[in-house]
Amino acid sequence: MVDDSAPPELLCSAADLPESGRAWVWDVLQYGQPARAFALRFDGQAVAYLNRCVHVPTEMDWQHGEFLDADRRWILCSIHGATYEPADGRCVGGPCGRGRLTPVEVAERDGQVYWYPSRDIRPVPFDTAAAETPV
Ligand code: FES
Repeated sequence: MVDDSAPPELLCSAADLPESGRAWVWDVLQYGQPARAFALRFDGQAVAYLNRCVHVPTEMDWQHGEFLDADRRWILCSIHGATYEPADGRCVGGPCGRGRLTPVEVAERDGQVYWYPSRDIRPVPFDTAAAETPV
């Protein structure tokens, strides 16, 4: 559920999400713990999910930002091949059962993509990000 009290966060330029291309990956906090999310464009729509497989809670991309299969049709977990529908994150094959990726709401406006924090998925505070930057 979107947190109406939290302003949308600028994510990237709309041009950074080519059709069925490499995803934009960013850091978030889920329940206060570090996590990653990704956004990609599929059938013209920007969609975003936590980078966490339903089968085993691990990141799915086979190279940084590469989530789609060779045909650029499905989101494919690189670990054991769970397959998800990009449009809604629903599992369509492999060991993810009836699960579904955790969505992150995104919207495009004036050539920019924004994401909407929820009660559970929050931006990384600036101070935390600075503290994690290697010296
Ligand atoms: S961890 Fe993704 S399919 Fe097993």
